[in-house]
Amino acid sequence: MSLDLTAATPEAPTVADDGVWLECIECGETFAPFSAIRYTCDDCDGLLEVRYADPPTFDDFEGRGVWRYAAALPFEMGVSLPEGDTPLHHVPRLEEEIGVERLRVKHEGMNPTGSFKDRGMTVGVRVAKELGVGRLACASTGNTSAALAAYGARGGMPTLVLLPSGKVAAGKIAQAALHDARILEVDGNFDDCLDIVQDLAARGEVYLLNSLNPFRLEGQKTIGLEILEEFHADHGTYPDRIILPVGNAGNTSALYKCFRELVQSGALDVDDVPKLTGVQAEGAAPMVEAIEEGNDEVRRWPDVETIATAIRIGNPVNAPKALPGIRETGGTAVSVTDEAITDAQRALASEGVGVEPASATSIAGLRKLREQGVVDEDEQVVCLTTGHLLKDPDAAFAAGNKPEDVPNDTEAILDHLAE
Ligand code: F0G
Repeated sequence: MSLDLTAATPEAPTVADDGVWLECIECGETFAPFSAIRYTCDDCDGLLEVRYADPPTFDDFEGRGVWRYAAALPFEMGVSLPEGDTPLHHVPRLEEEIGVERLRVKHEGMNPTGSFKDRGMTVGVRVAKELGVGRLACASTGNTSAALAAYGARGGMPTLVLLPSGKVAAGKIAQAALHDARILEVDGNFDDCLDIVQDLAARGEVYLLNSLNPFRLEGQKTIGLEILEEFHADHGTYPDRIILPVGNAGNTSALYKCFRELVQSGALDVDDVPKLTGVQAEGAAPMVEAIEEGNDEVRRWPDVETIATAIRIGNPVNAPKALPGIRETGGTAVSVTDEAITDAQRALASEGVGVEPASATSIAGLRKLREQGVVDEDEQVVCLTTGHLLKDPDAAFAAGNKPEDVPNDTEAILDHLAE
């Protein structure tokens, strides 16, 4: 199977362009990478992956940010703001409270538009230029639209975004608006928006930059490369487990692909591959259902709801790539309540790390798995936080302290503080 952790480095087919090609994960059909626009397999409609004849080792990387990892990407440079190089925070109080040997938090909210999506867009918009497409588009719970709008603007390309009406956090719409995206608010959920934008792409109206686009995931692989490099530099070992929020399961797929390519090149031992552990909100947990029930396919949830609007998704389109990733690495998936998400958001904030609700699911998931004994006390864990606190100001207000009205007078303020 092409998604096995120990699959050998593939031979370049004749369609390869400079050692890069697209391959269907279901039927193995191969395609030239940049000769035509395609998102899925022409033959069986399976998901496509970018493949390389020469997967990278750690010695191949130089510079900073996403493009440090050019040897793992289809281009030397992209449309850049720049992105990546995000902090891997120590969180000593949380580490102690949760009770693991080591806990670090990779804060992807520190990217230019405040989420990990920028890593995908720097590559995706570069590919769009290579293909010579016109309008860029995505369906989004918010962050993808903010990133696409900014990178489209940077690349001088028009953007169209489809959002589920009333379900996108204010900071994200503000970004898409100011970066000049055309914003369509659809009377439906994210999955409905994605169905429509796929229709538009199939009709040649737009170039699709959701994570169904295999090039997006190439950029997002660099989250894994940064974690492995920095963790190893600091601790002389690799993390036992990486825990992350799951929506469309793009990041889960991208991290797994990162590990597979490093194993192929001999840079990473199979035994050192971190256990990929996905977390969803209870009201939108089709991946967790599939893992718990041992299903090969994910059942689409028609109705989804959660405070973590970024991952309010019932049809994780990358599940065929992500399920093998969770299983082959020995990881798992778990769902958490909205209350646990808000608690985790507060706990991160108390360490100075400000995240949006979806991001806090990684910590909420770790807490639950630790309580259940699924995660051991001697584990070294990295939790991914995917988006910045300012993305969702309303959730932050609701979770945080309330401002207090006071008179314009020092004595009165001292009295108020003494109360
Ligand atoms: N965390 C945040 C903050 C997100 O915005 C998303 C996805 C995820 C996690 C899930 O990542 O899809 O790779 O599993 N947001 C998309 C969007 C759907 O439109 O912004 P995934």
